[in-house]
Amino acid sequence: MDHFLYRNGILHAEDVPLPQIAAEVGTPFYVYSCATLTRHYRLFEEALAGMEHLVCFAMKSNSNQAVIAHLAGLGAGMDVVSGGEYLRAKAAGVPGERIVFSGVGKTKDEMRMALKGGIRQFNVESEPELIALSEVATSLGVTAPITVRVNPDVDAKTHEKIATGKSENKFGIPIAKAPAVYAMAAKLPGIEVIGIDVHIGSQLTELEPFRLAYEKVRELTLRLRADGHDIRRLDLGGGLGIPYERSNTAPPLPTEYGALIREVFHDLDVEIEIEPGRLISGNAGILVASVIYVKEGEGRDFLILDAAMNDLVRPAMYGAWHDIIPVVEPAPGLDQRPYDIVGPVCESGDTFAKQRQMPAIGPGELVAFRSAGAYGAVMSSEYNTRPLIPEVLVKDDHMAVIRARPTFDEIINRDTIPSWV
Ligand code: LLP
Repeated sequence: MDHFLYRNGILHAEDVPLPQIAAEVGTPFYVYSCATLTRHYRLFEEALAGMEHLVCFAMKSNSNQAVIAHLAGLGAGMDVVSGGEYLRAKAAGVPGERIVFSGVGKTKDEMRMALKGGIRQFNVESEPELIALSEVATSLGVTAPITVRVNPDVDAKTHEKIATGKSENKFGIPIAKAPAVYAMAAKLPGIEVIGIDVHIGSQLTELEPFRLAYEKVRELTLRLRADGHDIRRLDLGGGLGIPYERSNTAPPLPTEYGALIREVFHDLDVEIEIEPGRLISGNAGILVASVIYVKEGEGRDFLILDAAMNDLVRPAMYGAWHDIIPVVEPAPGLDQRPYDIVGPVCESGDTFAKQRQMPAIGPGELVAFRSAGAYGAVMSSEYNTRPLIPEVLVKDDHMAVIRARPTFDEIINRDTIPSWV
């Protein structure tokens, strides 16, 4: 459920009509709903109620500071994967003790930054990273709390580009090697082992892969405790999928996911941490674009929008589906016709949808891409010197531009031409 609904025939973001935002900021733009962010964050809170836990929002899915500040205000922690994300979280007011540092290639500079600024834990992904962290921590005279990310070799049954829990993926250490790596960690100065981390992939639409991975983590917890390690926190990653295509069967709900976690771990006396991104931010955002032209091709009509693959890359990159709906509600029973919905970028890959059924629509009209709040703005680029599009946040009838569209001067002045060119 989200808060982008038709009212009096016009699509609204909460209480704000989208044409009003379009008139103020121009198209294309992203708009996020505080109510939907809150609702989805709380679903996880409720799903884990009664167990000691922290929900750490995976900032990579949407790192606008207004979004982060809103979630942090509800009590969320943050899962960061770079020094930049760490600084953003801090700038948005998230305390270090609620920031988890994930990622397969943390540099020593990033480790230093987090150790100085405060960190809840590092999720370490390899032995060389463990050694580097030990060196940085001892050089600063501090101790780094860590989990080791294990790779359980489980098929997440998702798109191959976003599966992370198979042995062929670059993530984590093979779970069979874990006892040896924990033994090594326990001996290293400046390192304090506190738990285990696992994340098997994104946009998972079934619970079974989570169950397989979590049962392996449970066994490992018992084994590592028997080896004398104080395993008191389990970071179970993110990955729960969302229904992009409303006509498809919906993925499991956070309540069902929470019930699984409870079932597998309830008797272990551990603190649970999860790192959901998409399920919190995905349906809390839409991308609004205008139709520039309707072009009649041979045997097909092209709807040419002012948004392109540089603004929302998911369809081009993963063949992902986003529902695309007109902002003015079509009259019931209106005939639908197939369109190829494309952007203005000079690549055939700049196609959002092929032969998508939509009511007839003309130039100047607005359309909305649903479920665009996660991995939308954060993955955008200025390809074709198309400025990054604005982000707007809505709460009830309030709206605010939370990232403005840069001017062409700002973009062009970023380059320098050396005198010897
Ligand atoms: N934790 C870790 C360690 C991750 O790598 C990720 C996502 C998450 C948590 C959050 O996963 P989520 O709950 O959002 O599924 N760009 C792709 C998705 C990449 C996901 C990368 N890792 C897309 O647009 O589908």
